[in-house]
Amino acid sequence: RKPVTITSLRNMYKKGEPIAMLTAHDFPSAYVADSACMDMVLVGDSLAMVALGMNDTNAVTLDDMILHCRSVSRAAKSAFVVGDLPMGSYEVSPQQAVQSAIRLVKEGFVQGVKLEGGVDYAPAIQAITTAGIPVVAHIGLTPQRQNALGGFRAQGKTVAGALKLLEDAYSVQEAGAFMVVLEAIPAEIAAIITQKLHIPTIGIGAGNGCSGQVLVQVDMTGNFEPGRHLPKFVKKYADVWAESKKGIEQYRAEVKTREYPAKEHTYAISEELVAEFQK
Ligand code: KIV
Ligand code: NA
Repeated sequence: RKPVTITSLRNMYKKGEPIAMLTAHDFPSAYVADSACMDMVLVGDSLAMVALGMNDTNAVTLDDMILHCRSVSRAAKSAFVVGDLPMGSYEVSPQQAVQSAIRLVKEGFVQGVKLEGGVDYAPAIQAITTAGIPVVAHIGLTPQRQNALGGFRAQGKTVAGALKLLEDAYSVQEAGAFMVVLEAIPAEIAAIITQKLHIPTIGIGAGNGCSGQVLVQVDMTGNFEPGRHLPKFVKKYADVWAESKKGIEQYRAEVKTREYPAKEHTYAISEELVAEFQK
């Protein structure tokens, strides 16, 4: 498969072909996403929860992101790789944002960066774009600002809220973002915003009227402890955790009973050699 570029993404958008995006956080998760022909792989700072065992994304550092972006980029042969700018790496000034974005590209080998924010972050988006780095904006529910939002809750559910989202969307488009993620927004509002923009929207909990979709890989593959709360927009397409656990339990049982390793898992030598060795 030919590498996905910003041009092929724009062509998909123009043709009305939905853009398929999935998160990955390391080499194996990126390898499987790329093998499944995802158009884009996002190294989301959600790796805080799904790979690092943190409660939220706040403690993730730019260095953490660089390490994970690097391993993902090594596996993504054709998918377009975008890395999240973590909390604290872009809010201070547009200069800080450009410096952080450049590090993600130079040290994390990503092709684009994503940051959370609308109108207020247009200057940062513009500065990064001017440096020649494609920017994906992220509006609606912005998890890095959950404390200011009052938790994980859908946005744009009032006329004023929806108008604010539209203003944010126009603003990031104007600033040069080549794509915008809409998270946790009523489907009708996301569809109208999508119609009004001339850049693709990628929905997560934003209905079917967006230009593409994104999900967190461990959520949609069911590669997580059963019983963990998942947002209502997640569809579970597989049961990887249960499969893994089944296999690991069987391995344990076979170790305990010496059923594993069997003859076919061992290296053979001649009986003469063994006899000689025993002398
Ligand atoms: O961190 C992440 O995984 C994200 C996506 C869910 C959009 O930002
Ligand atoms: Na994120």
